[in-house]
Amino acid sequence: MEGFLMRGGERLKGSLRVGAAKNAVLPILAASILADSPSTLVGCPRIADVESMRSILQTLGCESRWEPDGLVVSGGLSSGEMPEKLSKRVRSSIFLLGPILARLRHATVVYPGGCEIGLRPIDLHLSGLKRMGVEISETGGVLRCDGSRMHAADVHLDYPSVGATENVIMAAALTKGVTTVTNAAREPEIEDLQAYINAMGGHVQGAGSPTVTIEGTRELHGAVYAPMPDRIAAGTYLCAAAITGGEITLDHVQPRHLTAVLQKLREMGCEIEEGENVLSLKAPRRLQAFDTLQTQPHPGFPTDMQSPMMALAAVARGSSVIVENVFENRFALAADLNRMGARIRVAGRAALIEGVESLHGVSCQARDLRGGAALVLTGLCAKEETLITGVELIDRGYERMETELTRLGAQIRRISVTE
Ligand code: UD1
Repeated sequence: MEGFLMRGGERLKGSLRVGAAKNAVLPILAASILADSPSTLVGCPRIADVESMRSILQTLGCESRWEPDGLVVSGGLSSGEMPEKLSKRVRSSIFLLGPILARLRHATVVYPGGCEIGLRPIDLHLSGLKRMGVEISETGGVLRCDGSRMHAADVHLDYPSVGATENVIMAAALTKGVTTVTNAAREPEIEDLQAYINAMGGHVQGAGSPTVTIEGTRELHGAVYAPMPDRIAAGTYLCAAAITGGEITLDHVQPRHLTAVLQKLREMGCEIEEGENVLSLKAPRRLQAFDTLQTQPHPGFPTDMQSPMMALAAVARGSSVIVENVFENRFALAADLNRMGARIRVAGRAALIEGVESLHGVSCQARDLRGGAALVLTGLCAKEETLITGVELIDRGYERMETELTRLGAQIRRISVTE
C-alpha cells in the first residue's frame, strides 16, 4: 500500500496546468472501439482508471500505447466478452457495453465495480439499451446481451444518469436511424463525447441539453482528439489553495464548467477571476461557512466536489449544511474528519458542519477517490503530520497529486506503507 505523509500549514501559491478529464477520457476510450482505425487522445492523463480501461480494451482485442502527445488506441475489437476481474475494478467498464453492442451486436458483461459511494445500479443503462431492442438475460451477475435486433429508438431516462446517457449515445452511433435520448444528463463530459464521436464521422447533436439526437452511421473512423480539461481536478486544486489561505492560477480550465463550485468558493470569501481557459483564486486567511450546498446533476453542484467542500467547511467560520442528492454513501469522510477534530453530524442525506479553527493530523485511509482527495486537503491545513494510506484510490483520478501540490509549496511525499 502507498501513503501520503503530509505536514500542513503552508499557504499554497503558484500556478498549475489542469490535465484532461478522467470522466471525459473513460467514455471516450470506450467510444474508440466504435472505429476500426486508430485514435489519438491528446493529453490523456496517466491515471490508474485509464490503465484499467486499457487492460480491459486489450482483452477485447484493442491495443493502445503511450506516445509523447497522448494515448494511441488501435480501435476495433475482436471479442465482446468483458473480463470479470478487471470490470469489477472499474465502474467505467459498463461504458463498453453500448459500443460493443454497436459493433458486434452481442456482449457479455458483469456488474461493474468502482468507488464504494452508493448502490450505483445500472438499471438505466440496461433499460435504455432494451428500448433499442437489446435482449438481456442475467445469470449469477453475468449479463448476456443480444443486440441482433437493435434499432433506433426514443429513449427516455427516468433520471439523467451520466453513464446511461453516454452508453445509449455510443450504442446508437452505429445503429441505423435516429435515436433520441430525453431527460439526458447535461454534464460537459457528454458534450465532449459528442465532439469525439462527431470527429470520428458520427452525427450526434444536443449534448449539454436534456435532449440528445443520434443519427446512426454505417461506420466511424479514428480521430485525433484532445479531451476537455478536468473540472473536478481543477475544483480540487482550487480547494487546496482555499483551505490553506493561498493563491492559485489554473491554466487549461473551462470556468463555465465550474460555475456552481466557483459560486460556493466566492460565498466562502475567495476572490476569483475568470478568464478564457484560466482561473485564479485568492483565499482569505479563514474561509466563511456557506449556507447550504445541495449536490445535483449538472448544472447543479457536482457530487464529485462535495467531499472537498466538506473539508473546507470543516475549518470555515460558522456552520454549513450539505445535502447529498446523487450518491447515498458519500458521507463516509465525515467520520475521518471528526477524528481530526471536525464537528460534523450526519443525518441521512444531510450533514451539518460546524467549522472549527483547526484540525489535527491523524493516520487515516482513503475510502473513495474524492473522499481521499478531501483527506489530502485537510492534511494541507492540519498542524501536525497526517498519514493517508490507500492513496491508490486517489491515483485513480489524479495524476501525481503529490507532485502538483509540492510545486505549490505543500509538504507532502509518497511513501510505501506496510500493512
Ligand atoms: C459519473 C461520473 C462520476 C460522477 C457521476 C455523477 C464517470 C466515469 N463518473 O458516474 O464521477 O460522480 O457521473 O455526476 O463519468 N443510477 C441509477 N441507475 C443507473 C445509473 C445510475 O440508479 O443505471 C444512479 C446512481 O446510483 C447515482 C445517480 O444515478 O445515484 C447518478 O449516477 P450517474 O449519473 O449514472 O453517474 P455515473 O455515470 O456512474
